[in-house]
Order: sequence, then structure tokens, then C-alpha cells
Amino acid sequence: MKAPGGPPLLSVRNLDAGYGHVRVLQNVSLSVDAGRIVALVGRNGAGKSTLLRTLSGLNRAASGEITFDGQNIAGLRPHAIVAAGLLHVAEGRRLFRRQSVADNIELGRYGLRLGAEQHRQRMDRIHELFPVLQEKKDLPAGGLSGGQQQMLAIAQAMMREPKLLMLDEPSLGLAPVLVDQVLSAILTLRAQRVAILLVEQMVERALEIADEACVMQNGRMIASGPANEIATGDALRAAFMGDHGAPGHLQS
Ligand SMILES: Nc1ncnc2c1ncn2[C@@H]1O[C@H](COP(=O)(O)OP(=O)(O)O)[C@@H](O)[C@H]1O
Ligand SMILES: [Mg+2]
Repeated sequence: MKAPGGPPLLSVRNLDAGYGHVRVLQNVSLSVDAGRIVALVGRNGAGKSTLLRTLSGLNRAASGEITFDGQNIAGLRPHAIVAAGLLHVAEGRRLFRRQSVADNIELGRYGLRLGAEQHRQRMDRIHELFPVLQEKKDLPAGGLSGGQQQMLAIAQAMMREPKLLMLDEPSLGLAPVLVDQVLSAILTLRAQRVAILLVEQMVERALEIADEACVMQNGRMIASGPANEIATGDALRAAFMGDHGAPGHLQS
């Protein structure tokens, strides 16, 4: 939790990163306060996943500062960043499809020592958030619906009690009713003081639940601010305009 006026939980300053010699992120800055939902939006290819991958240590930053919970995490190995409390649920759902739902949740705490009581509390919290995972605990993960698999991926991360959870397109491929469930779970997580950095193609929905939002275009952050202001601002529309001026899907 942050003291009023204190530093943000996550602070990114002038970050440059990419793949080999290809620079994708240029001068990206961003901050996330404890217990807040920040939506990160932009067209396909804008660099959203690259930003999450860089924050979680999967990609190396070429330059810039990344401070998380008072610690400089730029250049740390992914496991050290996870240990600091910054977790990343990647695009697509990387589960062990043949193993049970319960085993997949257990795998979320790989390398982590939990006392019996602590373990029980975490499982209770996960099952409270996603009762369906308790109902289906003995079934293979591969038999779950897409929405349930997304819940399972979040549940895995919850085993480590993250301070900040980064979700990359959690609604991808989900039926509308399941999108609602995933978004309402995100609100529950915020109520439990977990901060969320949410990458989402369903932009209007993401901005409805977010506190703050930032807009990426071509590897740059072109706007950030309160989600309701971003929702009605020009930057969002500009970011979703087609390359030839064709209206993006936000055009009404
Ligand atoms: N593994 C990779 N190697 C090289 N270029 C990549 C790789 N992954 C993504 N890119 C490029 O980086 C840019 C940003 O991609 P990405 O971060 O996936 O965008 P978004 O998540 O916003 O759709 C794109 O031009 C994409 O082609
Ligand atoms: Mg992406």
C-alpha cells in the first residue's frame, strides 16, 4: 500500500526495448499505484505485450528505469521479479493441459514454501474468486472452457499473492458472459489490494473497470490519465485509426 503522495508501486521511466536490433518500445513511461487497475490499450503490434515481457524480465530493456515496490528491477531475472511480487499472465493460456485443475494451481507456487495454514488461506481465496475451479479441481485443465482456463491462469498467479498482476488480453476468445466473469474477478482482486496492469482489446470494457489508462501507438505511450478521460479523449481514437485513415473499431 502506498502512502498518500508516496511513490507508485510500479514506475517505468524512459524505457527502450525490443528484439535484437529491432527497437519496439521507445521512451515509454508508466506508473501503477498499489491497488489500482491500469488499462494499457493500443492496436495490434503497438508494443503492449513487449512492454509486459520487458517488465517481467523476459525481454531485456535497452535503457530506462523500472522501479517496483522500491526496488530497481531492470535487468533482474524473471524469477527474481516474480519473487518481488510482480506477476505476468501471458497472452494465451500456458497450462498443463493433461494435469488436473488442482495440480495446475499447485504449480503456481513452484519453488515457494508455504505453511499449511497459509496454503489453505490462498486456496480459499482462489476458490472464493473462482468457485468453478473448486468444482472442477480433479478434471484435466485441457477440458476447461477458454474462460475457465483464463481463470486457472490467474489462479496460478494468485498462489504467489502478487502485489501487481499483469494480464495480457485475458478476454481473448471468450464468450461475452465469460468476459464479464473475468472482468468482475479483476475488480475483486483490486478490492483485495492487488494492483492490475490490464492489456485488453475490448477497450471500452477495460476502460469501464480501470482507474487509469494509457494508450500506446507504435511503441510509444501517446497518452495516460484517468480512465474516464482517456475514454473520451482524442488519443484513443487516434491510436485506433487505420493506417489509411480508415475508422478503427472505436468509431461510432
Ligand atoms: N519475438 C519477437 N521478435 C521480433 N519482433 C517481435 C517479437 N514479438 C513482437 N515483435 C514485434 O514487436 C512489435 C510489437 O508487438 P507486440 O508487443 O506483440 O504488440 P501488441 O501486444 O501491442 O500487439 C510488433 O511490430 C511485432 O511484430
Ligand atoms: Mg499483445
